[in-house]
Amino acid sequence: MASENKPIADDPIPEPMRPRSYRIQRVRQETEDTFTLELEPADGAKGFKFEPGQFNMLYVFGVGEVPISISGNPSSPETLTHTTRVVGTVTRAMRQLKRGDLIGVRGPFGKPWPIEQARGRDVVVVPGGIGLAPLRPVLYALTAQRKQFRRVALLYGARTPENVLFPKEMKQWRDRSNFDVHLTVDRATGAWRDSVGLVTNLIPRAPFDPANAVAMVCGPEVMMRFVVMELEKRGLTDDRIYVSLERNMKCGLGFCGHCLFGPTFICKDGPVFRFDAIRHFFSKWEV
Ligand SMILES: Cc1cc2nc3c(=O)[nH]c(=O)nc-3n(C[C@H](O)[C@H](O)[C@H](O)COP(=O)(O)OP(=O)(O)OC[C@H]3O[C@@H](n4cnc5c(N)ncnc54)[C@H](O)[C@@H]3O)c2cc1C
Ligand code: FES
Repeated sequence: MASENKPIADDPIPEPMRPRSYRIQRVRQETEDTFTLELEPADGAKGFKFEPGQFNMLYVFGVGEVPISISGNPSSPETLTHTTRVVGTVTRAMRQLKRGDLIGVRGPFGKPWPIEQARGRDVVVVPGGIGLAPLRPVLYALTAQRKQFRRVALLYGARTPENVLFPKEMKQWRDRSNFDVHLTVDRATGAWRDSVGLVTNLIPRAPFDPANAVAMVCGPEVMMRFVVMELEKRGLTDDRIYVSLERNMKCGLGFCGHCLFGPTFICKDGPVFRFDAIRHFFSKWEV
């Protein structure tokens, strides 16, 4: 058991059921309904390492606990970053927190995105809406090791231009990281110059070699279902398509069964799954 005062960087889950107190260093409003919290351990301990795609259980004291992916840079784990969309009780209460307030953190949990499998290949990253938050650490990792990957296509769909997350970073990923960035919105407003329509429309012309590419997809399940179909039409096989799934969670550790999905636990075996492993259960809420 790790002492509260010891660094925890190499001991990521010392007491997995006990939230550790983190202090909010910064609150940033990203869009109308989405905000980012930057957190540091309240006791001055070091942050913990995480892999792109992993999530934490965030506890708003007295309200409840929810799973939220880590959206920060894996090479700067001293600050823990989470980007959250307000949808209900806990996320609404989380949005009320201010700089200096405390929040409970358990984690990191879950299986990461397949950065290793993508090495030496084209990479196709397809987020929809808030799905960009769990994929942002992948984009940081690809940027940090850019030469080890071939072409990187980022195909992002949002509801409106105002809902596009991380617009400044979009520009950096396009200009500095040399990613092929393609944006689309359901409804254009103002001086929008990119595409209008579903993110699936971006796939037929996206620059990647289906025989040597890995795709990572995160968004609403219906969006992921159609994205996977388009990727398959391009010739990408299911063993190189990865999706991230969401279900209600309680323990985050494979104990309680709340996140059971067919024969797997999303918290422990996912949330990132290779598509061929879950194809049979995908989009069936009753499993
Ligand atoms: C592994 C994992 C990672 C996640 N990462 C993120 C993340 O990085 N950022 C983020 O914003 N969310 C993320 N989520 C979703 C987040 O956990 C839920 O939005 C949250 O639990 C909702 O809690 P609540 O108390 O605010 O809403 P509740 O009061 O539980 O629900 C309010 C209403 O919103 C609906 N709802 C619940 N979840 C969602 C959802 N995901 N999308 C749309 N409607 C929903 C409910 O059905 C209900 O109608 C993740 C979920 C999982 C399982
Ligand atoms: S959340 Fe408890 S088993 Fe997955």
